[in-house]
Amino acid sequence: MVGKPFPSGNPQADRRAGYAETMAYLGDLSVAIEVLAGALDLAPDWAAGWFRLGEYHESANAMEEATQAWRRVLELDPEDPFGAGLKLDLQRDVPVAEMMPAAYVEMLFDQYAPRFETSLVQRLEYRGPELMMQALREAGFSGARRALDLGCGTGLMGVALRGVCDWLGGYDISAGMLEEAEAKGIYDLLEKQDLGQMAPGAPVHDLIVAADVFIYMGALEQIVGWCAGALSPQGRFAFTVECGARAVELRETRRFAHSQDYVREVLRQAGFRDVRLRACVLRQDRGQDIHGVCVVASRQGATTARDRDGEAQVPA
Ligand SMILES: C[S@@+](CC[C@H](N)C(=O)[O-])C[C@H]1O[C@@H](n2cnc3c(N)ncnc32)[C@H](O)[C@@H]1O
Repeated sequence: MVGKPFPSGNPQADRRAGYAETMAYLGDLSVAIEVLAGALDLAPDWAAGWFRLGEYHESANAMEEATQAWRRVLELDPEDPFGAGLKLDLQRDVPVAEMMPAAYVEMLFDQYAPRFETSLVQRLEYRGPELMMQALREAGFSGARRALDLGCGTGLMGVALRGVCDWLGGYDISAGMLEEAEAKGIYDLLEKQDLGQMAPGAPVHDLIVAADVFIYMGALEQIVGWCAGALSPQGRFAFTVECGARAVELRETRRFAHSQDYVREVLRQAGFRDVRLRACVLRQDRGQDIHGVCVVASRQGATTARDRDGEAQVPA
């Protein structure tokens, strides 16, 4: 987090921070903290440095000091590309974040993009697209005219979908991930979009998918409502979530988990029918299975005010 990718602008502070990293790596946290604090005396407005100092304090179990350092990060950079707000949230019994900060997700995946597939598929045995296709087929899906891949990333889900849809679009917040998806040459449209800020869409899609994306979104009401409005009357919606005990919970991994009851309720409120939940292992993390749910829901039979007014037309 500190050093080359996020320099402070003060070479002396950077050198000290580099030494602090070495000491932290060697397990001497008290020296690491002292040296990095010294670097921050030289570069007091260095958000990445404060974030790292918070992490050192966290590793040393000094949560009060960690909290102070992360608060300083937020003062310096309210867009919060380092996710300091999530770290603060994790200190509370009941996390309050409803969304990941957009700047944090964007930076995380811009950095991750070039090694995303090797890391996720080969090392972490990610199976999202395969599981989603299986769940869709079980729900009777055989093909779509227009499919939209939310949080498309590098296009792993797109590869699975390309053969079963006429038109394929992908939205993602990370330009780095979109570049990788573009290189696959399988999408008809790729757009940089923040799923937390979507303008209402016309009901033109007959499939919307979000594989391993809602783990970066807390409350799902808004995005599920958006999908309901962007699907044709026969449309299907498929996504994965990590399984949580509470409706929405922020985990130490800084990803969200959702309970099955919550998922069902949000879908019901948005007017989805025939909701199918299928337990699965999404991927590995630190040697452990990450349990999730693959969800497929249908607009079939659901009526909205717009349907009744005759506005829900699928363009030819
Ligand atoms: C774990 S990757 C999954 C990528 C792809 N769906 C797959 O199955 O390989 C999560 C993706 O969701 C995107 N994402 C997360 N939050 C987002 C948001 N608010 N708006 C748009 N994209 C988002 C990330 O940039 C990333 O590409």
